[in-house]
Amino acid sequence: MSEINSEFTAHNVLLADGTQTLASAGYFMNQHPWFLATVRMLRAVYPGGLKGVRMVDLGCLEGGYSIEFARLGMDVLGLEIRESNFRNCMHVKSRSNLDNLKFVQDDAWNVERYGRFDVVLCFGLLYHLDKPTSFLHMLGDVCNKALFVHTHIAPVEASKAFDLSAMTQHEDAEGRWYTEYPDGLRVDRSASKWASLENNRSFWLRKEFVLGAIRDSGFDIVVEQYDWLGSQIADEMLRGMYTTSHRNMFVGIKSGENP
Ligand SMILES: C[S@@+](CC[C@H](N)C(=O)[O-])C[C@H]1O[C@@H](n2cnc3c(N)ncnc32)[C@H](O)[C@@H]1O
Repeated sequence: MSEINSEFTAHNVLLADGTQTLASAGYFMNQHPWFLATVRMLRAVYPGGLKGVRMVDLGCLEGGYSIEFARLGMDVLGLEIRESNFRNCMHVKSRSNLDNLKFVQDDAWNVERYGRFDVVLCFGLLYHLDKPTSFLHMLGDVCNKALFVHTHIAPVEASKAFDLSAMTQHEDAEGRWYTEYPDGLRVDRSASKWASLENNRSFWLRKEFVLGAIRDSGFDIVVEQYDWLGSQIADEMLRGMYTTSHRNMFVGIKSGENP
């Protein structure tokens, strides 16, 4: 495998050798509000500490979240399908000095190959899949404790920001189709670094159906987390990406109370 990383597009990591992966971002991944919100929830779920807690980071892009959770002592596997992104993950790994950080290049649908995980991180991936309900059910099978899903949802009213289908039914759920790659158009899929790889369309679930699927997947605690929006929650919800991009963060937890 090539040692050469391609350009980073989103994750700025301060590496062990002092270099940054995307200095133009102006902040580091350990300051990212989604990371900080997840850490707060994890510390509440694991009051004894995070050391040794096993996490998988699905569709991990450039490994920025993966390395920051590994730096907290978690045992992290980053899973990424796209070759160029995976190379960037390996660049991060090679300058991390962390034995508890690993990356594999694979389809997230194959996560079961890697065993069970205490924590599953599914950030920015669910809305790139054509069978999101089945996917959430599968995550319930591999997750022991906590599932974090940061995702676009299908808005009830037509979206101003995205070209989505009319609300429809798929996998017994309601949502809207999103076109990743228009039929008949030749697109360099390796260059669309944030997109799906194989499926031409993705199905964006309505919020109610994300929550329901998490519950059906074995998580008896199902909540929406809001503190990723920062300190101005009302303003962000009314005017920020929560509403303009239909972006939500959901958490499922297996309490252990209900076998
Ligand atoms: C929008 S990006 C989100 C990246 C990262 N999780 C984040 O939140 O910053 C989606 C990522 O998922 C990857 N991806 C898309 N489909 C995938 C699949 N079936 N299995 C694994 N990774 C996938 C893409 O290559 C890309 O890195």
